[in-house]
Amino acid sequence: MTRKLLIDSDTASDDAVAILMAHRYPDIKVLAVTIVSGNLRVVDGSRNARYTIELCDAQTPVYSGCERPLLREPAHAYWYHGSDGMGGMNYPEPKLRQAQGHAIDALIENIRAHANDVMLVTLGPLTNVAAALLRAPEIASMVSRCVVMGGAANVVGNVTPAAEYNIWCDPEAARIVFRSGMNLEMVGWEVGRGAAALTETDIARVYALDTPYAQFAMDCNVHALELAKNWQGDPGMTLHDPTAMAIALDPTLSKRSGKYRVDVETRGELTRGMTVVDERRIVGTQKFFTDEWAVREPNVLTHHELDAAKWKALLHQCLRKS
Ligand code: BDR
Ligand code: CA
Repeated sequence: MTRKLLIDSDTASDDAVAILMAHRYPDIKVLAVTIVSGNLRVVDGSRNARYTIELCDAQTPVYSGCERPLLREPAHAYWYHGSDGMGGMNYPEPKLRQAQGHAIDALIENIRAHANDVMLVTLGPLTNVAAALLRAPEIASMVSRCVVMGGAANVVGNVTPAAEYNIWCDPEAARIVFRSGMNLEMVGWEVGRGAAALTETDIARVYALDTPYAQFAMDCNVHALELAKNWQGDPGMTLHDPTAMAIALDPTLSKRSGKYRVDVETRGELTRGMTVVDERRIVGTQKFFTDEWAVREPNVLTHHELDAAKWKALLHQCLRKS
C-alpha cells in the first residue's frame, strides 16, 4: 500500500531535506508540492523544490502559491538560509518546469480526489492551507493526517520569546487551520533541537554515506548550521522540517505527545503567533474562561520529543544508496 502525501513548503534548506526524504521513503507517493511565501519568496521556494525533486529523479508537480501572508507583510529569512535559501550553494536552474495552476487549487483538488486517503505535511507558514480551507472548508475532514512543522509548545520560540517562525509569520492563517477541524499534529521547533540536532560527528557520518543526497542535504544547510550554533545556541544542525517529516513518515519516532486544545495568538502585544497549548487541560475546568476557548475540544496531537537515534537512522535510510 502506498501512502499519498501533499507537501506545502517555503522551500529553503531544511525544507529541501524534508522533500527529499519523502521522495526517497519506500511507501510514499508525493502527489504535489505547493509553495508558500515564508522564509523565501515563492519564486525561490519553487526553484529549490524543483531542484530537489529533480535530484530524486522524480517529476512531482510543484505549484506556486500565496505570495504573502493573509494580512501581514512578508518577512523572509534569507539571512538564515543563505542568499538563495540553499546556503549560498547556487545550484543550477532545474529543468523541471513549474506546474500550471495555483497552489490553493492544487491542494483542494488533490485532497478531494484522494479524500480520506491523503496526508498533508506543512513546512512553512499556513497561508496556502488556510486559503484552501476558506474556499473549501469540507476538505478539513478529508485529510487523514495534517502534520504541521510549526509552533513552540509552551517553550521559548525562535523568532520571538513566544513564537516560532512559521506560525508567527502568518498567525491568522495558522488560527484558521488550527480551528478547522483537521486531524492536526504539531511538531514545534523545539522537537528538532537538543539531541535531535546533528553534531559534527553526525554530519561527518552523513557525508560518509557518499551519495548525492547526503552531500546535498548537508551542504545546503551549512549556513543555517552556523546560525543554529551561534545565534540559537544549538549543539549542531537543527533540521526542523525534516524532523516533522520524519514523524509524518514514521509516527513511532515520537517519544512524547499528547492531544490538547491548541490555539494561536493573533492579537498579543508581545505574543503574536504564540501556540497556546492547554497541556494541563485547564480550559473548561473552571469558570474564568467565558469565550469560545472554554467549549473547544482538544484539537491537536502535539509532539514534544522524538527518539533522536531513530530519527537519525531514518535520515540515513533516506540519504543512502537505494
Ligand atoms: C521553520 O522556519 C525555517 O527555518 C524552517 O524551514 C522551518 O520551517 C522553523 O522555524
Ligand atoms: Ca520551512
